[in-house]
Amino acid sequence: MTEARSGLDQSRVLLGVTGGVAAYKTPELIRLLAKEGAHVSVVMTRNARRFVTRDALKSVTHGPVLTGLFEAQALGEGPWFEGSPPSTLGMAHIGMAREADLVLVAPATANLLAKLARGLADDLLSTALLATRAPILLAPAMNVAMWEHPAVQENARILRDRGVRFVGPEEGELADGEWGMGRMAPLEAIVEATRDALEAGGMSRRAEAAPPRPQGIAISDQALRGRTIVVTAGGTEEPIDPVRVITNRSSGKMGFALAEEARRMGARVTLITARTSAPAPVGIARTEALTVSAMAGAVREAMRDADALIMAAAVSDFTPGPPSGSKIKRAESGVTLELKATQDILRAVRSEFPKKHLVGFALETGDEERAGREKLERKGLDLIAINNPLKPGAGFGSDQNDVTLIDRSGALERLGLRSKRDVARAILERVARALAGKAAR
Ligand SMILES: Cc1cc2nc3c(=O)[nH]c(=O)nc-3n(C[C@H](O)[C@H](O)[C@H](O)COP(=O)(O)O)c2cc1C
Repeated sequence: MTEARSGLDQSRVLLGVTGGVAAYKTPELIRLLAKEGAHVSVVMTRNARRFVTRDALKSVTHGPVLTGLFEAQALGEGPWFEGSPPSTLGMAHIGMAREADLVLVAPATANLLAKLARGLADDLLSTALLATRAPILLAPAMNVAMWEHPAVQENARILRDRGVRFVGPEEGELADGEWGMGRMAPLEAIVEATRDALEAGGMSRRAEAAPPRPQGIAISDQALRGRTIVVTAGGTEEPIDPVRVITNRSSGKMGFALAEEARRMGARVTLITARTSAPAPVGIARTEALTVSAMAGAVREAMRDADALIMAAAVSDFTPGPPSGSKIKRAESGVTLELKATQDILRAVRSEFPKKHLVGFALETGDEERAGREKLERKGLDLIAINNPLKPGAGFGSDQNDVTLIDRSGALERLGLRSKRDVARAILERVARALAGKAAR
């Protein structure tokens, strides 16, 4: 009945628009989705109409733009999406919800999150959100104090645990002039998350094709639900003087992929970053820790409430010691730097938290397997991911990595050259299996 498709092309996206300032961006969002071949129909709340007009939305979509439950009902059997036949389901809110491949709400207000978390159905959008079996993707946007409010955070957690996907919010300047988490994710990120959610959902979730099942995500995809995972990313910087540092070429991509995948699998993620050059994942709060000692402090603090640590950051093995207070001047005879060993973060964490699950990365350019086993042993790790950045296509800055995993029992698995996202997934599946059965924290 439905054809094989990939991504957004020919997908049916039901876009919910709620009453936040970012609603003015939704005509452009629709344009971007339509450019990729999506058929977009819109349900806007009454309050959303204060921020964007129905005419503005109508001018960019071929599908209906509706607000009221009974207004939708008056349209009978639809069609609810461009090019689709009239619905076989008599009630509009059920028909449109069930014919969608995905329900995206952008912006999603604090109010919408609360309603969906509690199952309220007092308008067309909230009713359709309960009636759908399609994946749900939310792009929250609100003032930073609202986003950080424990009630809103709890609602977001409830929804994530239920398999609802989130894109954003992001840190930045907010409509009210404040700075903080709460900005709606960039439109391009929302389009990408929509594509990801559709691809992860596989084929159509439409009424005639979809068996009753939880929203969009298979049970195994939520294997880290209720867990807190600390992930480090990037390369540390050890200052030599006020303007120079010892660093490395880590981009942060591997750590970011781990953080994103861990969140996708239902974990609460604490992301600690050194210097990075890759774009950070949207919607995951970050703590910056540039030097080895700052990172050691941040990791030990975060581990108090965590189940596992994945040290993907490239941590400097050496430091010049206390930096010079002024710029070291050029000298014809050259300058000699004395480097001391830095502290070993993983060993420190292991001695402080003997039972927590620790995953390390070993970056080796020689006998990788032997060096990896030795590092696993010396640091008391549960799992080590060994990679050689000199292998073609792998390593720093690349989207791929060639990784071999060795666990505490000595078992070795060569993952080969894969995307960093796949490597992240393989590592996190092992972490989830190891944590299964253990009480959280
Ligand atoms: C000028 C203005 C801007 C607002 N911006 C937001 C916002 O960005 N995010 C949010 O959650 N609520 C925002 N609100 C509050 C919501 O409009 C309010 O909670 C409303 O009940 C949401 O209704 P809805 O979720 O049905 O659209 C704003 C209110 C006003 C008056």
